[in-house]
Order: sequence, then C-alpha cells, then structure tokens
Amino acid sequence: MKFREYIQKLLKLGEVISIQKEVDWNLEAGAIIRRSCELGASTPFFQNLKDDEIDCRMLGGPVSSHKKLACALGVDPETPVKGIIEVLESRIGEVKNPKRVDSASCKENLMDDDINLFNFPVPMIHSGQGGRYIGTWAFLVSEDPETGITNWGMYRVMVCSKDLMSGLILPTSGLGRAVAKNEKENKSTPFALVIGSDPLTAYISATPIATDEEEVKHAGGLREESVPITKCTTNDLFVPANSEIVIEGEILPETWLPEGPFGEFTGYRVAPRDFRRALKVNSIMYRDNPILTVSSLGVPVDDTDIVQASSFSIILKEELKSKGIPITDVHMPPELASTTIVVGVEDLYGNIAFQIGYIVSSHPAFANYGCHVIVVESDVNVFDLDEVFHALATRCHPERGITAIKTPTSTLIPYLNRREKEWGYGVKTIFDCTWPREWSKVEKPVYVSFSNNEIYPEGIQEKVIENWEDYGYEKT
Ligand SMILES: Cc1cc2nc3c(=O)[nH]c(=O)nc-3n(C[C@H](O)[C@H](O)[C@H](O)COP(=O)(O)O)c2cc1C
Repeated sequence: MKFREYIQKLLKLGEVISIQKEVDWNLEAGAIIRRSCELGASTPFFQNLKDDEIDCRMLGGPVSSHKKLACALGVDPETPVKGIIEVLESRIGEVKNPKRVDSASCKENLMDDDINLFNFPVPMIHSGQGGRYIGTWAFLVSEDPETGITNWGMYRVMVCSKDLMSGLILPTSGLGRAVAKNEKENKSTPFALVIGSDPLTAYISATPIATDEEEVKHAGGLREESVPITKCTTNDLFVPANSEIVIEGEILPETWLPEGPFGEFTGYRVAPRDFRRALKVNSIMYRDNPILTVSSLGVPVDDTDIVQASSFSIILKEELKSKGIPITDVHMPPELASTTIVVGVEDLYGNIAFQIGYIVSSHPAFANYGCHVIVVESDVNVFDLDEVFHALATRCHPERGITAIKTPTSTLIPYLNRREKEWGYGVKTIFDCTWPREWSKVEKPVYVSFSNNEIYPEGIQEKVIENWEDYGYEKT
C-alpha cells in the first residue's frame, strides 16, 4: 500500500486526524504527537505548519498503534496482537525483488542549489533536545563498499545547519560498518535519507535483517508487492519511488558534529550531547506538498515500541524454534519499551529458562534490546501483561530463579551507570517463572482461576458463561 493511500485509510477509520490550525514546529507539534500517543488518541496529520517555506505537511506517529500496523498489513484493524504478529511472521521471511522505475513521484521537486534543510518545518520535538530532528521516522539508504549490498536502517538524524546533519550511527549498524570500510580508504559514504515511505518499508528499515540480505527485498515480501525504486540524482543509490522527501549526500570520513541529546525509546533522555557522524547534504528531492513523518519518542507506547516489539518477538521465535527449544510463544510487550522479552515454554527439562536466556544474550540483534528475559510455562498467556507479572511475582524464586549475565548493551539504557553506558558493559537478567521440575503434581500450587477446571468444572464454567447476561451483566 502506498503511503498516501495508507493515510487516507487511517483518516476514514478515525485513526488519523487532519489538523488545519497552524501548529508550531517548535515543540507544539512534538507535544501534540506525544500526547496523542499517551492518550491512545488519533495520529495528528498537520496541514499548516509555521514558517513553512515549501508547503510541507507532517504526520506524527505513523505506526504508533497495533491498529495502524494492522491497517498497513491490510488486515482487519481489530486483529489482536498475536494475530498481527502471525501475519508479520508469515511474510517477513519472504523476499520480492524491487522494481526499478525512472518516473517517480519523489522527483516532482529538486533542491540542488542553495540547499536549506530549514525550508522544511523540521520539528524541535522535545524541550532540551540538541537540535531540530529531520530523521525520527525515516531511514538511511547506503551500500556496503565491499559486498555491494544495500542497507536500509532507521537511525535518528539531527539538522546542524542548512546542509549539514549528524546522526547516531553506531559502529555495529549496517551503515556504521559501511562507513568504517570507506573510511579506511579515506572515502566518504554516499547516503539517501528517505522520509515518508510506505509504512511497511519503514517497518523493515527498523528490523534487524541479516547483514548479507537486503531490506528492500524483505519490504517487498512484507508488502506482498515489489517496492518500486528509483535512482538518486547525485549518487548511485536507489530509493522508494513514492517517498515524500529524499535527502541525498555523503557521510564524511573522520568528521564529527555534535548530536543529541534526544528523548529516546526507553521513555527517558539518557545519552548526552556528543560528537557523532557528519552527513553533508548534496541535494533534496521532494513531492508536491510533501509529508514529513515524525515520531515523538518517549514513554511507551509509540511507533518504536510497536515496530520493535513485533519484529524482535518474531526474530527470537525463529531463533529458538531453529534450535529446537520447545517454546509455545514469544512476546516483547510494547508497554515495556523494548527492554523485556517473555517466552512461553513447555517445561520439558531442567534449566530451560536459562538456556533461553543465554540464547537471547548471545544473539546480536538483542545486544541493545531485551535486557530482561522472562520465561513462563505454557499456561501463562505471554500476550497478557497482568498474567506475566503475576507469574513473575508468584513463581520466580528471588534467589534460584534469577540470573544475571554480562552482555554488551545499548548506551541508552537508563539504569546503567556512566562507565557502563560509555563502555557498553551491559547485563541481561533471566527470570525463571517455571515451577521446579522435581515438584510432583500435588506439590505444584493450584492456579485459582475461573477457567481452571480444577477450580470450576467445565460444566459450571459453561453454565456461568451461558447465563452471564441473565444474571444482569453486560455481554463480554
Ligand atoms: C524510531 C527509531 C529510531 C531508531 N534510531 C536508531 C539510531 O539512532 N541508531 C541506531 O543504531 N539504531 C536506531 N534504531 C534501531 C535500528 O533502526 C535497527 O536496529 C535497525 O535494525 C538498524 O538497521 P541495521 O541493522 O541495518 O543497522 C531506531 C529504531 C527506531 C524504530
């Protein structure tokens, strides 16, 4: 589905609200987006932004709810989270080659002379932020100079001046690796920053796809349709043809500009202002009346939580299945800001929880996320946070059930001290919420719940459900 069709669909469903009133790019837009996420209200689509030189619109929180993700996937918006993950799971491994096109709507306008990023209403999203961020829901396209593999990665990008930007491009990221290889030869790295692509294309750019595979092909698989791509004007990279804005340029070798601080995915502002990669802009293509996509990151749930919770669950599920671990399901609750992963298991052998915890800890995709691994038995619904926390509180022995392992970490994890953040000394905690294997059936505590047949026989349960409204209750 094209990006503008997606917006129309969300407008019809009331998931997006069109705002005609003039809104300031300086904090006001960011505050509206943030509040809409915190209230679970419609996503704002700003039509009239202050100081806007080129008649630009702004969509805040493009995939900030499961309903929107369901719409992007073309399934019933009311599909439960488990169902959405199943659809993603069935499509994410599929690949479809992109289709190269010459005629592309992103080429409707070109700024290649007198470049000025401030002609766009680039938002100051949070107060105290290091600068105005043009890349919060946007991805950088680059190419590995050795393998020729194209990488798409969503990384935050701040505007430093009319034609200079800086970004948090970690050395472990796809782009970080390409930059390091070019730098050895004192070469710059061509990039294209893609803003306003279709929602599943953006989804894939934030999903850790294997380094020897191309995100563009997986985006085709997820969309069930090839991504039309077109060549950039100043370099040889290809970008989605229907993108709203494409900023082309080069990452300069050994050149650093101040970046941050920024409100981050954990719901805190953690990383200080620092010198990060410098991105020099060479030209900008944009559609008529373009749409800037913006995420106002903060306390869950917003776009990052929705995307990462689903993609990381799928990646881990595949990994555990491929190793023959008897799992029932995996879920990274979006409410916990990509910090926690819950795994449901058939309790077949001793220390299964720790085996899973070690697999998570050694998986490169989880170096920065999934700091807590909670392992529960199959009677706990991993998609129900109340059930998961109840199991954690009542089944996890505070001494025998918890293990901490030293791992690499994201520098953005709030509870780490300065040294740990700076040098990447992290820790993962495994919470074993399975009952001890040696306990007999009699020893295992009985779960006192309406739906447990040991507490209420099936006949009683059926009778109560059948007569529920006759008792005077509302239909459930
Ligand atoms: C809104 C958002 C912002 C992100 N910002 C960054 C960032 O600034 N730096 C980073 O390394 N990863 C960031 N990520 C995570 C990456 O997009 C993700 O790890 C992706 O897989 C990177 O692609 P790569 O594996 O090709 O490097 C962000 C994700 C989201 C959803």
